[in-house]
Amino acid sequence: MNFSEELTKRTGEVQEIIYRYLPEEKGYQKTLLSAMNYSMTAGGKRLRPLLMQETYRLFGGAGKTVEPFMAAIEMIHTHSLIHDDLPAMDNDEYRRGKKTTHVVYGEAMAILAGDGLLNFAYETACRAFLTEPGNPDVGRAMAVLAEKTGVGGMIGGQSVDVESVGQPLSPDKLDFIYRLKTSALIEASMMIGAVLAGAGEEKVKLMERVAQDVGLAFQIQDDILDVTGSCETLGKPGGSDERNHKTTYVTVKGLEKAQEEVKDISNRALETLGSLNEKNIFLEELIRALTTRES
Ligand code: IPE
Ligand code: IPE
Ligand code: MG
Ligand code: MG
Ligand code: MG
Repeated sequence: MNFSEELTKRTGEVQEIIYRYLPEEKGYQKTLLSAMNYSMTAGGKRLRPLLMQETYRLFGGAGKTVEPFMAAIEMIHTHSLIHDDLPAMDNDEYRRGKKTTHVVYGEAMAILAGDGLLNFAYETACRAFLTEPGNPDVGRAMAVLAEKTGVGGMIGGQSVDVESVGQPLSPDKLDFIYRLKTSALIEASMMIGAVLAGAGEEKVKLMERVAQDVGLAFQIQDDILDVTGSCETLGKPGGSDERNHKTTYVTVKGLEKAQEEVKDISNRALETLGSLNEKNIFLEELIRALTTRES
């Protein structure tokens, strides 16, 4: 099997795991539950749970403890997308190839669907306490999940992102935004994979550094695709950043330099990863493949 076939297969397996944890659409709050599932089942690369599972495997993890956390990180990520697309934020009409949640369900329900997914993520991850009572790594993983999502992570990053609209940004502040809004959830993914496989603190820290670079490169590539891609290939509208007067790596450094940075930062991630004795060739190939992704 070549890499792209392997990626399709593994993404499918990840998706199956996620689907098992989705809420049933029933009761008086049925509309909310279907709005939550609407975006969760719309597709997407499933990159974060995939990175979590592959990091788990890298450190010899073979059980199922990681599965509720894989579903949880995708729920948190999807929550961030639903809210990111709202009229008050990036005001985008398409996501994952479909109309955005607020377009289909209305703004109030989309806000609640985002909130619902964010909370359901923790409900889902907490299931690992029941299946693995007495495993201290579950508590460690939960702390990472909460911390990387919150004010010092994704949500904090989004707040600085919206506040910086139309403003020139120092390289330091731009990196700060990317590290929080995008790297944080990727850091959580890889750190949780490591924690649940029983890796020690030092290796978890090393994975945090790898993931920070993977996330930074990922967001720069996202900025590039916002300029060069189309709604057809991206599943979301191109030109969103320009329309929203966002300062990005592309507006600051230009397309070419931004493309170089994606390669350089990803190579740095691979070097850090390569310093471990543990190896996962698929994970390395995945990080490399992200530098040329078109969606
Ligand atoms: C989009 O993330 C938001 C960013 C952090 C750039 P993805 O590109 O991973 O979106 P999906 O999950 O594949 O839809
Ligand atoms: C979003 O950055 C990061 C998060 C959703 C946390 P963008 O606003 O560039 O993401 P897209 O391009 O809409 O997916
Ligand atoms: Mg945004
Ligand atoms: Mg956006
Ligand atoms: Mg973008």
